[in-house]
Amino acid sequence: MTQESKEPAAQPSLLSFRANTRLLIGEGSISQLGATAQELNTRRALVVSDKGVLAAGHTCTGVASLEAAGIETTIFSQFTENPTTSQVDAGTVFAESFRPDIIIGLGGGSSMDCAKGINFLLCCGGKMKDYRGRGTTGRPLLPSIGCPTTAGTGSETQSFALISDAQTGEKFACGDPNAAFRVAILDPCLTVTQPARVTALTGIDALSHALESHVSTEATRVSQVFSREAWKLLTQNLPKVFIEPTDIHARAAVQLGAAWAGLAIENAMLGAAHGAANPLTAKYKIAHGQAVGLMLPHIIRFNGLVARKQYAELAAIAGLNTKTPDAALANWIHDILGQAGLSRSLGDAIGTQPAMSEFEHLAKEASAQWTSSFNPRPCLPADFVDFYQRASV
Ligand SMILES: [Fe+2]
Repeated sequence: MTQESKEPAAQPSLLSFRANTRLLIGEGSISQLGATAQELNTRRALVVSDKGVLAAGHTCTGVASLEAAGIETTIFSQFTENPTTSQVDAGTVFAESFRPDIIIGLGGGSSMDCAKGINFLLCCGGKMKDYRGRGTTGRPLLPSIGCPTTAGTGSETQSFALISDAQTGEKFACGDPNAAFRVAILDPCLTVTQPARVTALTGIDALSHALESHVSTEATRVSQVFSREAWKLLTQNLPKVFIEPTDIHARAAVQLGAAWAGLAIENAMLGAAHGAANPLTAKYKIAHGQAVGLMLPHIIRFNGLVARKQYAELAAIAGLNTKTPDAALANWIHDILGQAGLSRSLGDAIGTQPAMSEFEHLAKEASAQWTSSFNPRPCLPADFVDFYQRASV
Protein backbone atom coordinates (compact mmCIF):
# COMPACT_ATOMS: atom_id res chain seq x y z
CA MET A 1 0.00 0.00 0.00
CA THR A 2 1.20 3.48 -0.74
CA GLN A 3 -1.32 5.73 1.03
CA GLU A 4 0.04 8.27 3.43
CA SER A 5 -1.52 8.84 6.82
CA LYS A 6 -3.81 11.87 6.91
CA GLU A 7 -3.28 12.22 10.65
CA PRO A 8 -0.82 14.92 11.70
CA ALA A 9 2.56 13.50 12.58
CA ALA A 10 3.36 13.71 16.28
CA GLN A 11 6.45 15.70 17.22
CA PRO A 12 9.32 13.34 18.00
CA SER A 13 9.31 14.30 21.67
CA LEU A 14 5.57 13.71 22.08
CA LEU A 15 3.84 10.41 22.65
CA SER A 16 0.51 9.64 21.07
CA PHE A 17 -1.59 6.65 22.09
CA ARG A 18 -5.06 5.89 20.77
CA ALA A 19 -7.66 3.69 22.50
CA ASN A 20 -11.06 3.99 20.86
CA THR A 21 -13.02 1.14 22.36
CA ARG A 22 -14.66 0.51 25.72
CA LEU A 23 -14.22 -3.10 26.80
CA LEU A 24 -16.76 -5.29 28.58
CA ILE A 25 -14.89 -8.35 29.82
CA GLY A 26 -16.06 -11.54 31.46
CA GLU A 27 -17.82 -14.88 31.20
CA GLY A 28 -21.40 -14.36 30.05
CA SER A 29 -20.82 -10.72 29.03
CA ILE A 30 -22.52 -11.37 25.67
CA SER A 31 -25.80 -11.15 27.59
CA GLN A 32 -25.08 -7.42 27.90
CA LEU A 33 -25.13 -6.85 24.13
CA GLY A 34 -28.74 -5.59 24.09
CA ALA A 35 -28.27 -3.23 27.03
CA THR A 36 -25.01 -1.96 25.54
CA ALA A 37 -26.68 -1.25 22.19
CA GLN A 38 -29.51 0.46 24.04
CA GLU A 39 -27.01 2.78 25.77
CA LEU A 40 -25.93 3.88 22.29
CA ASN A 41 -29.55 4.93 21.55
CA THR A 42 -30.13 2.38 18.82
CA ARG A 43 -33.32 0.71 17.63
CA ARG A 44 -32.26 -1.22 14.52
CA ALA A 45 -29.22 -3.49 14.60
CA LEU A 46 -27.41 -5.15 11.70
CA VAL A 47 -25.53 -8.19 13.03
CA VAL A 48 -22.66 -9.34 10.79
CA SER A 49 -21.84 -12.98 11.58
CA ASP A 50 -20.25 -15.69 9.49
CA LYS A 51 -22.04 -18.99 8.93
CA GLY A 52 -19.84 -20.96 11.34
CA VAL A 53 -20.67 -18.61 14.20
CA LEU A 54 -24.35 -18.80 13.27
CA ALA A 55 -24.16 -22.60 13.40
CA ALA A 56 -22.42 -22.50 16.79
CA GLY A 57 -25.42 -20.58 18.16
CA HIS A 58 -23.53 -17.49 19.29
CA THR A 59 -25.32 -15.19 16.87
CA CYS A 60 -28.69 -16.32 18.25
CA THR A 61 -27.49 -15.56 21.79
CA GLY A 62 -26.52 -12.04 20.71
CA VAL A 63 -29.74 -11.49 18.75
CA ALA A 64 -31.82 -12.68 21.73
CA SER A 65 -30.12 -10.09 23.92
CA LEU A 66 -30.76 -7.35 21.36
CA GLU A 67 -34.40 -8.29 20.88
CA ALA A 68 -34.97 -8.50 24.63
CA ALA A 69 -33.83 -4.87 24.72
CA GLY A 70 -36.46 -3.96 22.11
CA ILE A 71 -33.98 -3.61 19.23
CA GLU A 72 -35.09 -4.81 15.79
CA THR A 73 -32.36 -7.04 14.40
CA THR A 74 -31.32 -8.61 11.12
CA ILE A 75 -28.32 -10.77 10.23
CA PHE A 76 -25.89 -10.58 7.28
CA SER A 77 -23.81 -13.72 6.79
CA GLN A 78 -23.06 -13.87 3.05
CA PHE A 79 -19.29 -13.65 3.29
CA THR A 80 -16.29 -15.92 3.69
CA GLU A 81 -13.00 -16.03 5.55
CA ASN A 82 -10.98 -13.01 4.35
CA PRO A 83 -14.09 -11.07 3.23
CA THR A 84 -13.83 -9.68 -0.27
CA THR A 85 -14.67 -6.29 -1.75
CA SER A 86 -17.70 -7.75 -3.53
CA GLN A 87 -18.96 -9.37 -0.32
CA VAL A 88 -18.70 -6.03 1.50
CA ASP A 89 -20.54 -4.41 -1.42
CA ALA A 90 -23.32 -7.01 -1.07
CA GLY A 91 -23.48 -6.42 2.68
CA THR A 92 -23.80 -2.70 2.08
CA VAL A 93 -26.73 -3.19 -0.31
CA PHE A 94 -28.33 -5.45 2.33
CA ALA A 95 -27.74 -2.80 5.00
CA GLU A 96 -29.17 -0.01 2.83
CA SER A 97 -32.47 -1.87 2.63
CA PHE A 98 -32.61 -2.45 6.41
CA ARG A 99 -31.36 1.02 7.47
CA PRO A 100 -29.62 0.03 10.73
CA ASP A 101 -28.54 2.57 13.31
CA ILE A 102 -25.91 0.25 14.75
CA ILE A 103 -23.64 -2.42 13.23
CA ILE A 104 -22.50 -5.39 15.29
CA GLY A 105 -19.61 -7.62 14.25
CA LEU A 106 -20.21 -10.93 16.02
CA GLY A 107 -17.67 -13.58 15.09
CA GLY A 108 -13.99 -13.88 14.21
CA GLY A 109 -11.86 -11.30 12.46
CA SER A 110 -13.69 -11.85 9.18
CA SER A 111 -17.06 -10.94 10.74
CA MET A 112 -15.68 -7.90 12.52
CA ASP A 113 -13.75 -6.68 9.47
CA CYS A 114 -16.78 -7.20 7.21
CA ALA A 115 -18.90 -5.21 9.71
CA LYS A 116 -16.38 -2.36 9.61
CA GLY A 117 -16.25 -2.47 5.81
CA ILE A 118 -20.06 -2.23 5.55
CA ASN A 119 -19.96 0.72 7.96
CA PHE A 120 -17.41 2.54 5.74
CA LEU A 121 -19.49 2.13 2.58
CA LEU A 122 -22.92 2.62 4.16
CA CYS A 123 -21.93 5.94 5.73
CA CYS A 124 -19.37 7.30 3.27
CA GLY A 125 -20.20 5.66 -0.08
CA GLY A 126 -17.66 4.63 -2.72
CA LYS A 127 -15.63 1.42 -2.76
CA MET A 128 -13.44 -0.24 -0.13
CA LYS A 129 -10.28 0.70 -2.04
CA ASP A 130 -11.17 4.37 -1.46
CA TYR A 131 -10.43 3.79 2.23
CA ARG A 132 -7.02 2.13 2.03
CA GLY A 133 -4.61 3.49 4.60
CA ARG A 134 -5.45 5.45 7.72
CA GLY A 135 -7.84 8.27 8.56
CA THR A 136 -9.66 8.29 5.25
CA THR A 137 -13.34 8.91 6.12
CA GLY A 138 -13.32 12.35 7.70
CA ARG A 139 -16.80 11.84 9.09
CA PRO A 140 -18.56 9.80 11.80
CA LEU A 141 -19.76 6.30 11.00
CA LEU A 142 -22.58 4.38 12.67
CA PRO A 143 -21.85 3.23 16.22
CA SER A 144 -20.67 -0.34 16.27
CA ILE A 145 -19.99 -3.16 18.72
CA GLY A 146 -17.49 -5.99 18.29
CA CYS A 147 -18.09 -9.41 19.85
CA PRO A 148 -15.10 -11.66 19.04
CA THR A 149 -15.62 -15.41 18.98
CA THR A 150 -11.96 -16.08 18.19
CA ALA A 151 -8.86 -14.73 19.91
CA GLY A 152 -6.50 -13.60 17.19
CA THR A 153 -6.97 -10.67 14.88
CA GLY A 154 -7.47 -8.01 17.54
CA SER A 155 -10.01 -6.42 15.20
CA GLU A 156 -12.12 -5.72 18.28
CA THR A 157 -9.66 -3.10 19.61
CA GLN A 158 -8.31 -1.54 16.43
CA SER A 159 -9.85 0.50 13.67
CA PHE A 160 -8.59 -1.46 10.66
CA ALA A 161 -10.66 -3.68 8.38
CA LEU A 162 -8.66 -6.17 6.31
CA ILE A 163 -10.48 -6.73 3.02
CA SER A 164 -9.42 -8.86 0.03
CA ASP A 165 -9.71 -7.68 -3.55
CA ALA A 166 -12.36 -9.92 -5.12
CA GLN A 167 -10.36 -10.19 -8.37
CA THR A 168 -6.74 -10.51 -7.25
CA GLY A 169 -7.07 -11.78 -3.68
CA GLU A 170 -4.78 -8.94 -2.56
CA LYS A 171 -5.45 -8.03 1.08
CA PHE A 172 -5.51 -4.38 2.01
CA ALA A 173 -6.09 -2.49 5.25
CA CYS A 174 -8.62 0.29 5.71
CA GLY A 175 -8.35 2.09 9.02
CA ASP A 176 -10.05 5.05 10.58
CA PRO A 177 -10.70 5.89 14.22
CA ASN A 178 -14.35 6.43 13.24
CA ALA A 179 -14.55 2.77 12.20
CA ALA A 180 -13.38 1.42 15.56
CA PHE A 181 -15.98 -0.37 17.65
CA ARG A 182 -17.46 1.84 20.38
CA VAL A 183 -17.62 -1.22 22.62
CA ALA A 184 -16.04 -4.67 22.43
CA ILE A 185 -17.62 -7.48 24.42
CA LEU A 186 -14.97 -10.03 25.41
CA ASP A 187 -16.84 -13.12 26.53
CA PRO A 188 -14.42 -16.06 26.69
CA CYS A 189 -17.35 -18.51 26.56
CA LEU A 190 -17.79 -17.55 22.90
CA THR A 191 -14.27 -18.77 22.08
CA VAL A 192 -14.58 -22.30 23.51
CA THR A 193 -16.50 -23.67 20.51
CA GLN A 194 -13.76 -22.80 17.99
CA PRO A 195 -12.47 -25.79 16.05
CA ALA A 196 -8.94 -26.70 17.22
CA ARG A 197 -7.42 -25.51 13.95
CA VAL A 198 -9.09 -22.09 14.27
CA THR A 199 -7.79 -21.78 17.84
CA ALA A 200 -4.31 -22.60 16.52
CA LEU A 201 -4.42 -20.22 13.54
CA THR A 202 -5.83 -17.29 15.47
CA GLY A 203 -3.57 -17.87 18.46
CA ILE A 204 -0.41 -17.83 16.32
CA ASP A 205 -1.70 -14.69 14.61
CA ALA A 206 -2.16 -12.97 18.00
CA LEU A 207 1.38 -13.96 19.03
CA SER A 208 2.72 -12.47 15.82
CA HIS A 209 0.84 -9.22 16.52
CA ALA A 210 2.48 -8.91 19.93
CA LEU A 211 5.92 -9.65 18.46
CA GLU A 212 5.73 -7.45 15.38
CA SER A 213 4.12 -4.46 17.09
CA HIS A 214 6.78 -4.53 19.82
CA VAL A 215 9.62 -3.90 17.35
CA SER A 216 7.88 -1.87 14.61
CA THR A 217 9.15 1.54 13.57
CA GLU A 218 6.00 3.12 15.06
CA ALA A 219 6.27 1.38 18.45
CA THR A 220 6.37 3.67 21.47
CA ARG A 221 7.00 2.92 25.10
CA VAL A 222 3.22 3.05 25.62
CA SER A 223 2.28 0.73 22.75
CA GLN A 224 5.03 -1.64 23.90
CA VAL A 225 3.32 -1.99 27.29
CA PHE A 226 0.38 -3.56 25.44
CA SER A 227 2.63 -5.65 23.18
CA ARG A 228 4.45 -7.06 26.19
CA GLU A 229 1.31 -7.73 28.23
CA ALA A 230 -0.24 -9.44 25.19
CA TRP A 231 2.93 -11.50 24.75
CA LYS A 232 2.89 -12.50 28.43
CA LEU A 233 -0.77 -13.57 28.41
CA LEU A 234 -0.40 -15.42 25.13
CA THR A 235 2.86 -17.25 25.82
CA GLN A 236 1.61 -18.36 29.24
CA ASN A 237 -1.84 -19.45 28.16
CA LEU A 238 -1.87 -20.50 24.50
CA PRO A 239 -0.03 -23.78 25.23
CA LYS A 240 -2.64 -24.50 27.93
CA VAL A 241 -5.48 -23.87 25.49
CA PHE A 242 -3.91 -26.18 22.89
CA ILE A 243 -3.82 -28.97 25.50
CA GLU A 244 -7.11 -28.22 27.28
CA PRO A 245 -9.48 -26.27 24.97
CA THR A 246 -12.20 -25.97 27.64
CA ASP A 247 -9.92 -24.21 30.18
CA ILE A 248 -12.02 -21.05 30.42
CA HIS A 249 -9.43 -19.12 32.44
CA ALA A 250 -6.76 -19.78 29.83
CA ARG A 251 -9.27 -18.92 27.09
CA ALA A 252 -10.06 -15.62 28.82
CA ALA A 253 -6.35 -14.78 29.12
CA VAL A 254 -5.75 -15.55 25.44
CA GLN A 255 -8.77 -13.47 24.46
CA LEU A 256 -7.47 -10.53 26.48
CA GLY A 257 -3.97 -11.02 25.05
CA ALA A 258 -5.36 -10.83 21.52
CA ALA A 259 -7.27 -7.65 22.41
CA TRP A 260 -4.16 -6.00 23.92
CA ALA A 261 -2.20 -6.96 20.80
CA GLY A 262 -4.94 -5.31 18.71
CA LEU A 263 -4.49 -2.13 20.71
CA ALA A 264 -0.75 -2.34 20.11
CA ILE A 265 -1.37 -2.69 16.36
CA GLU A 266 -3.68 0.31 16.39
CA ASN A 267 -0.79 2.42 17.62
CA ALA A 268 2.33 0.70 16.29
CA MET A 269 1.29 -1.26 13.19
CA LEU A 270 3.00 -4.56 12.26
CA GLY A 271 5.97 -5.65 10.14
CA ALA A 272 7.52 -7.82 7.47
CA ALA A 273 6.11 -11.16 8.65
CA HIS A 274 2.65 -9.87 7.76
CA GLY A 275 4.10 -8.33 4.59
CA ALA A 276 5.52 -11.71 3.56
CA ALA A 277 2.39 -13.63 4.61
CA ASN A 278 -0.24 -11.68 2.70
CA PRO A 279 1.00 -12.67 -0.80
CA LEU A 280 1.08 -16.32 0.35
CA THR A 281 -2.57 -16.10 1.37
CA ALA A 282 -3.47 -14.43 -1.93
CA LYS A 283 -1.56 -16.94 -4.11
CA TYR A 284 -1.82 -20.25 -2.27
CA LYS A 285 -4.88 -19.61 -0.05
CA ILE A 286 -2.77 -20.35 3.02
CA ALA A 287 -4.69 -19.29 6.16
CA HIS A 288 -3.42 -16.01 7.58
CA GLY A 289 -2.19 -17.39 10.92
CA GLN A 290 -0.39 -20.23 9.15
CA ALA A 291 1.28 -17.92 6.65
CA VAL A 292 2.40 -15.41 9.31
CA GLY A 293 3.57 -18.17 11.64
CA LEU A 294 5.82 -19.88 9.13
CA MET A 295 7.41 -16.59 8.00
CA LEU A 296 7.85 -15.12 11.48
CA PRO A 297 11.00 -17.01 12.61
CA HIS A 298 12.91 -15.84 9.53
CA ILE A 299 11.86 -12.22 10.01
CA ILE A 300 12.85 -12.33 13.71
CA ARG A 301 16.34 -13.61 12.83
CA PHE A 302 16.67 -10.88 10.17
CA ASN A 303 15.56 -8.17 12.62
CA GLY A 304 17.85 -9.38 15.41
CA LEU A 305 20.56 -7.01 14.23
CA VAL A 306 18.46 -3.92 15.01
CA ALA A 307 15.86 -5.10 17.56
CA ARG A 308 17.87 -7.24 19.98
CA LYS A 309 16.97 -5.17 23.06
CA GLN A 310 13.22 -5.36 22.35
CA TYR A 311 13.45 -9.07 21.59
CA ALA A 312 15.39 -9.62 24.82
CA GLU A 313 12.46 -8.11 26.75
CA LEU A 314 10.07 -10.56 25.12
CA ALA A 315 12.46 -13.48 25.59
CA ALA A 316 12.75 -12.68 29.31
CA ILE A 317 8.95 -12.65 29.67
CA ALA A 318 8.74 -16.09 28.05
CA GLY A 319 11.62 -17.46 30.14
CA LEU A 320 13.89 -17.82 27.10
CA ASN A 321 17.58 -17.14 26.53
CA THR A 322 18.08 -13.36 26.51
CA LYS A 323 21.70 -13.49 25.27
CA THR A 324 20.59 -14.50 21.77
CA PRO A 325 16.93 -13.49 21.97
CA ASP A 326 16.26 -13.47 18.23
CA ALA A 327 17.34 -17.09 17.88
CA ALA A 328 15.47 -18.05 21.08
CA LEU A 329 12.24 -16.40 19.92
CA ALA A 330 12.52 -17.78 16.39
CA ASN A 331 13.00 -21.30 17.77
CA TRP A 332 10.12 -20.86 20.22
CA ILE A 333 7.76 -19.81 17.40
CA HIS A 334 8.95 -22.77 15.32
CA ASP A 335 8.19 -25.10 18.25
CA ILE A 336 4.76 -23.70 19.05
CA LEU A 337 3.71 -24.05 15.41
CA GLY A 338 4.27 -27.77 15.92
CA GLN A 339 2.35 -27.76 19.22
CA ALA A 340 -0.51 -26.01 17.41
CA GLY A 341 -0.54 -28.68 14.71
CA LEU A 342 0.41 -26.21 11.97
CA SER A 343 2.95 -26.51 9.17
CA ARG A 344 6.44 -25.22 9.91
CA SER A 345 7.51 -24.77 6.31
CA LEU A 346 6.04 -23.30 3.17
CA GLY A 347 6.70 -26.53 1.30
CA ASP A 348 4.66 -28.47 3.84
CA ALA A 349 1.86 -25.89 3.83
CA ILE A 350 1.37 -25.96 0.05
CA GLY A 351 2.61 -29.49 -0.64
CA THR A 352 5.27 -28.47 -3.17
CA GLN A 353 8.44 -26.41 -3.51
CA PRO A 354 7.77 -23.15 -5.35
CA ALA A 355 10.09 -22.21 -8.23
CA MET A 356 12.57 -19.33 -7.90
CA SER A 357 10.46 -17.21 -10.27
CA GLU A 358 7.52 -17.60 -7.88
CA PHE A 359 9.65 -16.43 -4.95
CA GLU A 360 10.68 -13.36 -6.92
CA HIS A 361 7.07 -12.54 -7.76
CA LEU A 362 5.97 -13.06 -4.14
CA ALA A 363 8.90 -10.96 -2.89
CA LYS A 364 7.97 -8.06 -5.15
CA GLU A 365 4.46 -8.10 -3.71
CA ALA A 366 5.69 -8.50 -0.13
CA SER A 367 8.03 -5.54 -0.36
CA ALA A 368 5.16 -3.38 -1.66
CA GLN A 369 2.88 -4.28 1.29
CA TRP A 370 2.13 -1.32 3.52
CA THR A 371 2.78 -3.38 6.64
CA SER A 372 6.35 -4.15 5.46
CA SER A 373 7.19 -0.46 5.67
CA PHE A 374 6.95 -0.60 9.49
CA ASN A 375 9.53 -3.38 9.86
CA PRO A 376 12.42 -2.23 12.08
CA ARG A 377 14.99 -3.31 9.48
CA PRO A 378 14.17 -2.26 5.91
CA CYS A 379 13.52 -5.25 3.64
CA LEU A 380 14.42 -5.26 -0.03
CA PRO A 381 12.78 -7.68 -2.49
CA ALA A 382 15.98 -9.77 -2.34
CA ASP A 383 15.52 -10.10 1.43
CA PHE A 384 11.99 -11.43 0.92
CA VAL A 385 13.29 -13.94 -1.63
CA ASP A 386 15.71 -15.12 1.06
CA PHE A 387 12.88 -15.37 3.65
CA TYR A 388 10.73 -17.43 1.28
CA GLN A 389 13.62 -19.73 0.43
CA ARG A 390 14.42 -20.29 4.11
CA ALA A 391 10.74 -20.83 4.90
CA SER A 392 10.23 -23.30 2.08
CA VAL A 393 12.14 -26.18 3.72
FE1 LIG B 1 -2.35 -10.89 11.63
